[in-house]
Amino acid sequence: MGKQQAMLLWNDSFSVGVREIDDQHKELVEILNELVALVGEYPGSANQEITSIIEKIDAYKTVHFETEEKYFKQFNYAGADEHIQAHKDFNEKVGELVASFQKNSEKEQLLELVDFIENWFSDHVLNMDHKYVHCFKEGGLE
Ligand SMILES: [Fe+2]
Ligand SMILES: [Fe+2]
Repeated sequence: MGKQQAMLLWNDSFSVGVREIDDQHKELVEILNELVALVGEYPGSANQEITSIIEKIDAYKTVHFETEEKYFKQFNYAGADEHIQAHKDFNEKVGELVASFQKNSEKEQLLELVDFIENWFSDHVLNMDHKYVHCFKEGGLE
């Protein structure tokens, strides 16, 4: 059976109370869990399937970060620079982990990728994303 990574379960503490953002976060959790399931079967699951889910995560996180950053600009969010940097650091780290998997195709590297994304997601949403809620709500989002 080998090492397994647990699914990330959505819970209401993740909610920032802005529907568009919550929906995007939920979607990310769902796609991430598709990856978790495939990694659990790896190497039974094909590299191609893994690659296409990784691409899906990549595309979706781009859309999501752009959404948040659009509102930072629109509402003149004071914490924007720090937050945008955190998104950049995440992209960079994910890029490195994906590249090392693509080079060696080892399950250990996939587990590391999934573990990193799960931990980052929980920490980032619970801490950094929650900080903009007040500003977004004052801007009129609900
Ligand atoms: Fe964020
Ligand atoms: Fe977010």
